[in-house]
Amino acid sequence: MSEMFEEISDNRTPPTYKFFNGSAWVTSAGGKTTEVHSPIDDSVLGKVQVVTHEEIDAAMKAAHAQQKNWEATPLNQRVKVMHLTADWIRQYEDYLTTLLIREIGKTSDEARGEIKRTADLTDYFADEVQSIRGFELDSDNFPGFDKGGTALIDRVAYGVVLAIAPFNYPVNLSGSKLAPALLMGNSVILKPPTQGSISGLHLTQLFRKAGVPTGVLATVTGGGGEIGEYLTAHGGVDMIAFTGNSETGMAIAKNAGMKPLLFECGGDNPVVVLPDADMHLTAREIIKGGFSYAGQRCTGIKYVLGTETTLDQLIPLVLELMKTEVAMGDPRSPGTKLVGPVISEEAAVHIEEAIRLSVSAGAKILTGGGRKNSYIEPTILTDVTPDMRVVASEVFGPVVSFVRIASMDEAVGIINRSRYGLQASVFTKDEGTGIVFARQLHVGSVQINGSPQRGPDHFPFLGVKHSGVGVQGVRYSLEAMSRLRPIVLNKPG
Ligand code: G3H
Repeated sequence: MSEMFEEISDNRTPPTYKFFNGSAWVTSAGGKTTEVHSPIDDSVLGKVQVVTHEEIDAAMKAAHAQQKNWEATPLNQRVKVMHLTADWIRQYEDYLTTLLIREIGKTSDEARGEIKRTADLTDYFADEVQSIRGFELDSDNFPGFDKGGTALIDRVAYGVVLAIAPFNYPVNLSGSKLAPALLMGNSVILKPPTQGSISGLHLTQLFRKAGVPTGVLATVTGGGGEIGEYLTAHGGVDMIAFTGNSETGMAIAKNAGMKPLLFECGGDNPVVVLPDADMHLTAREIIKGGFSYAGQRCTGIKYVLGTETTLDQLIPLVLELMKTEVAMGDPRSPGTKLVGPVISEEAAVHIEEAIRLSVSAGAKILTGGGRKNSYIEPTILTDVTPDMRVVASEVFGPVVSFVRIASMDEAVGIINRSRYGLQASVFTKDEGTGIVFARQLHVGSVQINGSPQRGPDHFPFLGVKHSGVGVQGVRYSLEAMSRLRPIVLNKPG
């Protein structure tokens, strides 16, 4: 693969990348490719193959053919392969960082953070898997089963895991699926996001360099419309791990039928500010949570709830802090802070429309609101109500809305009525009150005095309602990508 890890520069001819069919890097027989455009300036970064259905069938067949051998490979060897993968990721940190900046428009710090985190996470998975063991249960403590019998309960692979990664973390949210699936003895078919495919292909190469055997990992590229439905309905898939928006999650679940699913979908991640909160801390966390990666994190803050008096204190602090902590621009420029472009001009138009509709419904723009190509100005809206587009739909962009409430019960009602339930944050100086409040919220996790986030990655991470299915987090992902297999030894007589 000559074009892999070749220096990226403005004047190179955009490479046409091959896909990895499990044993070789190949050009699709269908002869179709898709251009990957940089959100920074819409330039073509490269082309990726649109893999055919027959090529998917062949990769699936190879994945099944090799899976049992891989599962039978001693765990300590699979662990070594993952540690080596982490080392390769570190070795190519600079390259992958540059690639991520270009391909998905992350700022340099955020892109580098994603790569480092993926290497650390891969190591952590490899360490943690060694404490996952089978166990034994005796039957005689259950009424009616006192003759005795023993179940030997192993944890085994599902078979072939389909891993579908999103554009906003094409390396990390591929790695967070590949590592646990492979460590538990599964084969994997990776479907990277179209925007993020190039990063996903490079990551695949690093898993291969580390020693993932032929057939065990294939990476198939192509648009969701071209291969997504075929893959998710494929009879060869034994389990699906997906990160992406809730609508796609719903469609995959419908398509997949009775297969185990591990889904991380959309979120609106509200912040509730209690009157006694430290307003400076709250303002800093709102900025971090609302504007990092231009608001394109599933854990990004979409709206802030507080009483009139609270918001009158808080909003001026947020606006003041934005002057020094947030600066929109080309993510390659050191002056840019948190807000580069959103993933495409189409996405930016969609965000602009949500702002426009909310303003015509009565919201007021305190700062921002404008768009240039795929760049959305960091935007603060006030006088927002929960039915307005900026709150009611997942606006994946740098927009934070302030919603005035009369009471904390009203905040609970608004959050619990949302179709999303990923995370929420509560700000208060009284942690006890925060815990009592947190327990009323129907969301996956609640942060007290911090903005919503997935990490640290060994914490359980989950969404309820339309925000997800199953639990991620190092140990939880390892468990989710394997199943229990009881073998029962009955005592005759
Ligand atoms: O976008 C979805 C990610 O899982 C969010 O992760 O909170 O670390 O940005 P993060």
